[in-house]
Amino acid sequence: MSNESCEMALQQLQELLRLTETEMRRISRRRFCGSELYVEALAKVLGGRGRRGPACIMILFSDRAHGAARGRVFHLVEHELVERSDQVVIDLASAYGSGMALTEAGEDVVAVNWNELSATIEDFQKQFPEAVRRFVSGPIRNFVTCRIAGERQGVVSAFNYPGNCSTYDATVLRGLSVLISSLVTLSGELWETEQAFIYTIEALARACEAAEEDTGNHIKRVNRYAGALAANMGVPDQLVDTISYSAQMHDVGKIKIPSAILLKKGPLDHDEMELIRQHPAFGEQILGDSQRLQVAREIAIAHHENWDGSGYPSGLKGESIPLPGRIVKLADVYDALRSNRSYKPGYTHAETMRIFHEGDERIKPRSHFDPAVLETFFRIERIFDAIYESLHG
Ligand SMILES: [Fe+2]
Ligand SMILES: [Fe+2]
Repeated sequence: MSNESCEMALQQLQELLRLTETEMRRISRRRFCGSELYVEALAKVLGGRGRRGPACIMILFSDRAHGAARGRVFHLVEHELVERSDQVVIDLASAYGSGMALTEAGEDVVAVNWNELSATIEDFQKQFPEAVRRFVSGPIRNFVTCRIAGERQGVVSAFNYPGNCSTYDATVLRGLSVLISSLVTLSGELWETEQAFIYTIEALARACEAAEEDTGNHIKRVNRYAGALAANMGVPDQLVDTISYSAQMHDVGKIKIPSAILLKKGPLDHDEMELIRQHPAFGEQILGDSQRLQVAREIAIAHHENWDGSGYPSGLKGESIPLPGRIVKLADVYDALRSNRSYKPGYTHAETMRIFHEGDERIKPRSHFDPAVLETFFRIERIFDAIYESLHG
C-alpha cells in the first residue's frame, strides 16, 4: 500500500471509530437509531475529499412478505450522500444482479469489475435489473455488494469506484456494514427493553391510581404537562423525557393508603389526614434506590412541597425542593382544578387560570409554586388546555 492509501485507510478507520463511539454514547443515553444510520455512516466513511468513495450507493432491505427488496439510492456529491427521490423496488424473483445474487448465495461481500465478468461494458449492464441501472448515472463499471445481517436483512451496494474496485473497498464496506447493523440491532433491542421499562412503570402508576377518579388520563396528562413545562424551561432533552415519564408515579405511595380513606366522601379526621400526608414518603420507599428511578423518587417525595416551605412532608423550601418535584406539583394542581371531583365540578381553563393568578382559599400561587415554573406555565398555558382537552373523558 502506498503512503497515500495508508493515510486514507487510517482516516476511514478513524471515522468508523468516531462514529461507533458517538452512536454508543447516544444509545446509552437512550437515543435510539434505525436504518437511517447507514446513510450517515456511509457518507462519513466513504464521502468527502480524499476518500475512496463510489459514485452511487444503494441500500436495499428485503421485504419477503411482498416478494421484494426495497431501498434507497444515494449519489455521493462532495461530502454528502444525496438521495435520489424515487424509492427502488426490486422483485426478489428477478435477477438481483450478479453481486446481489452472490450475497444471496451466502457470500458476505463481493467486489466485481466489469472486465472480470463480461467482454464489454455494455454486456456487463445486462447483469442488473432496469430499476438499478436507472439510478446509476452512466454505465456500471464496478461494484461492491455487502450483505446486511441482523434483524433487517438486506444488501448495501456501492457502484462505480474510481478505477477498479478492490478487496480493500470490499473490506471497508463490510466493516461499515457489520458495524452499523450491530449498532442498529443493539439499538433495537435496547429500545424494546426501554419500552418494557416504560410499560411496567405505566402499569405501576395505573395500579396505584386505581382508587381515584379519572385516573388513567390524569396520569397521562400530568406526564405531558410536566414534559411541556420542563422543555420550556430549557431543561436538557434527556431530563425532559425522564421527568415526563416519571411524573405519572407521583402518587404511587397512595397504594399504601386504604381506598376507604382515599374515596371517603365526607371530611377526613386528623389521623386519616396524617396518613394521606405520608403518601409522598411511602412513594419514595416504594420506588427504592434504583438509579433509573431517581427522578421519579424526587417527584414522589416533593410534589406536595411548597416554595415557601409550607408544604409537606418535609416543609422543604425554594431550590432545596428538587426541580422535577416543583414542576409536577404545578402540573398536578392544574389537572386537579380542571377535573371533576366528588366535592367540586371541573373548572374551565379560564377559571383555573384565574385561580393561578389570584389564588383561592387553598392555593396561593406566589407562595406555593416556584416562580420560574409559574412564569413558564403562564407562557404556555394554552398547551395545558390543549393537553387537557385532548385527553379527558
Ligand atoms: Fe400526591
Ligand atoms: Fe395526581
